[in-house]
Amino acid sequence: AADDPAPAPPMGWNSWNKFGCDINEQLIIETADAMVASGMKDAGYQYVNIDDCWMAPERGADGRLQPDPVRFPAGIKAVADHVHAKGLKLGIYSSAGTKTCQGLPASLDHEEVDARTFADWGVDYLKYDNCNNEGRPAVERYQKMGEALRATGRPIVYSICEWGENDPWEWGREVGGHLWRTTGDISDSWNSMTGLLDQQVGIEQHSGPNGWNDPDMLEVGNGGMTDAEYRAHFSLWALLNAPLLAGNDLRTMDQSTKDIMLNPELIAINQDWGGKQGYRVRDDGETEVWAKPVSDGSVAVVLFNRTGEDQDIQAKAGEVGLPDAAGYRSRDLWTGVETSIGGEIRASVPSHGAVAYRVWPNPGEKS
Ligand code: GLA
Repeated sequence: AADDPAPAPPMGWNSWNKFGCDINEQLIIETADAMVASGMKDAGYQYVNIDDCWMAPERGADGRLQPDPVRFPAGIKAVADHVHAKGLKLGIYSSAGTKTCQGLPASLDHEEVDARTFADWGVDYLKYDNCNNEGRPAVERYQKMGEALRATGRPIVYSICEWGENDPWEWGREVGGHLWRTTGDISDSWNSMTGLLDQQVGIEQHSGPNGWNDPDMLEVGNGGMTDAEYRAHFSLWALLNAPLLAGNDLRTMDQSTKDIMLNPELIAINQDWGGKQGYRVRDDGETEVWAKPVSDGSVAVVLFNRTGEDQDIQAKAGEVGLPDAAGYRSRDLWTGVETSIGGEIRASVPSHGAVAYRVWPNPGEKS
């Protein structure tokens, strides 16, 4: 529908990767403040998402979920008001099960009252997990919440966190989802990141405006990977039209983390209105070429090196979907350096690193 809230992949932050259950309202408020102060809001980041562990161990006497009184003494509505006053949006979390993954009350068979509660609080985004689902069919469980959210009349981004177990890319959009997890959880390591990447191949065609494949949140800045690995992670997640959900502590980011998270040219690739997901063009087990068509006729190309040494990686213009042209203009999206090239895109790519280009065909006659 025209008022669907995810025409481009959602951008923001989520508490889980860095903080797990160690969350409270001060963290959420300080994160919203940091999202503005760091320049992330201006770069397009918008959602401040509370993950598991915000709720009290029991529902209230009125049957509604209630916030943990120690972690969120002022309540979710007060947090939402602060986040909204900053020009940002608030996300929350529940599970399509009897309990969340951390054993707290969740929304299975309480979909309507919970959706209404979230809407009353001013929530703009729901991540809906899959733990404790009693073996009941996924499509039914997720459909129920999709309908309940729609019935509130509030535009709420619906993030289906089903871990890719029942091919949610096949039905996520029909049940009202705006994005769906395609895999299990990311962790802050090279092996985890590349393992998730491999699971994105072959499902590209299911992703598009208001219905995105979600390879899970970012780990950039959490310390388990090198800067080169984090640049590769961010380059590839941008090209996959993944939601760009920071998973680090925004209050204490160092400059190299900011330089990655705030890269305007990769964010522009991710947010391109055409909404075509990037795909793996070629893979020899060591080096890879990825490409994403951009709606101005250019192509974003990521050359990715999985090996322990620098590698010279090359791709032909035609291979990545560029039209025949007399020549091309290529822009390195990490350095900003532009060069004129013939029909070959190439770079020396550092170990466990990526080089990202955007390539435009030159106008004029083909020679
Ligand atoms: C699941 C989800 C994670 C996170 C945790 C919270 O594992 O996949 O992203 O939300 O639950 O308990």
